[in-house]
Amino acid sequence: MRAWNGVGGHALPIASAGGATVTDASGKTYVDLVGSWGAAIAGHGHPHVVSAVTRAAKKGLSFGATTEGEVELAERVRERYAPAERVRLVSTGTEATMTALRLARAATGRDLVVKFAGHYHGHADPFLVAAGSGLATAGTPDSAGVTASTAADTVVLPYGDIDALTAVFAQHGQRIAAVITEAAPCNMGVVGPPEGFNALIAQLTRNEGSVFILDEVLTGFRAGPSGWWGIERDDALARGEEPWVPDLVTFGKVIGGGLPVAAVAGRIDLMEQLAPLGTVYQAGTLSGNPVAVAAGLATLDVMDADAYVALARASDEVREGVHEGLLASGVPHAVGRAGTLFSFFLGLDEPPVTFAGAAAQDTEAFTSFFHHMRSQGVSLPPSSFEAWFVSIAHEPSVTRRIVDAAGAWRPELGSRG
Ligand SMILES: Cc1ncc(COP(=O)(O)O)c(C=O)c1O
Repeated sequence: MRAWNGVGGHALPIASAGGATVTDASGKTYVDLVGSWGAAIAGHGHPHVVSAVTRAAKKGLSFGATTEGEVELAERVRERYAPAERVRLVSTGTEATMTALRLARAATGRDLVVKFAGHYHGHADPFLVAAGSGLATAGTPDSAGVTASTAADTVVLPYGDIDALTAVFAQHGQRIAAVITEAAPCNMGVVGPPEGFNALIAQLTRNEGSVFILDEVLTGFRAGPSGWWGIERDDALARGEEPWVPDLVTFGKVIGGGLPVAAVAGRIDLMEQLAPLGTVYQAGTLSGNPVAVAAGLATLDVMDADAYVALARASDEVREGVHEGLLASGVPHAVGRAGTLFSFFLGLDEPPVTFAGAAAQDTEAFTSFFHHMRSQGVSLPPSSFEAWFVSIAHEPSVTRRIVDAAGAWRPELGSRG
């Protein structure tokens, strides 16, 4: 992604960032919609976050021991997110999902993990697996270096496919340690989960004694104040229904506010199987690092109720404004949305649900759009399979610039260079 493999061209290193902008090594400044892939929710270098980090750094960079800040951050996560009954801090989302799967396997004594095509859970081996030749057959390695035996323990299904999911449980239920899903998929473009799909995963895993791992590394505290789960919980409560609950949850990005913090969290009885209380090994030299934790705490401080209103405003302005601009220019497209997260699928009439659907978008048109936006001073994520990340620093004058730039795109003219 960083090499712009998806869009071509030459990515210059970033020299600095502030608020809603990044400045590259040549001194050119762009409105930024990458936002450190979601972490920069408060805008780059928010003064409250920077001063918290500076204060923490003056007290020492790393102790290799538990700190008060670490406990406070874990409690803050628990306050906002009820299923996070216990929280273990790690440094990356990859560690969080890897640990969650190990825990699920230990708790169930089973091997198989079910994941969905197009979902990204970091770069641990069990998740770098592509679908096998048929439904419910073992996956195949999706990266050099992943062994066939690792891939054989991963089943990859089309997202949102109720029949495929129920069939795999009917056939292999007693072998399934866990189902892992992005709470709302945001790594194949943004896809709103089909109504009831997460609830179905919760029901099937509960019935078969498997573990439901909800990956909120990207959506956590960004899609809304309690992540994507909070949005579905509120919808269920509004319908007078009991909300579904995941067994384990993974967080990252926003809870580190731009420094390396992630977490695995969930049901007490599962979490207590982690060492030292239990027998599931987990450790990290820099886990709960005091400076990183200070950035996370300060970011969650900044992200109060008013900040989420500002985030939603920025998201609405960009999403609706760009949509109208593309419509006015006659560009066929669909808008994918999950809470304040969104992306555009050029060339599609309807937002897709599956990875195959998302892959049918016009990536060449996106390449032209991406370079046009750069020429207008707007830095989009360099792939049409990524969300556009706004922050609370994306004030109306900034969102206007994005919308105006998008409205000026004329695809037939091309815009490279
Ligand atoms: C949903 C999801 N899970 C896990 C990860 C992995 O996190 P990290 O890059 O911190 O290892 C990512 C990263 O983008 C993600 O989007």
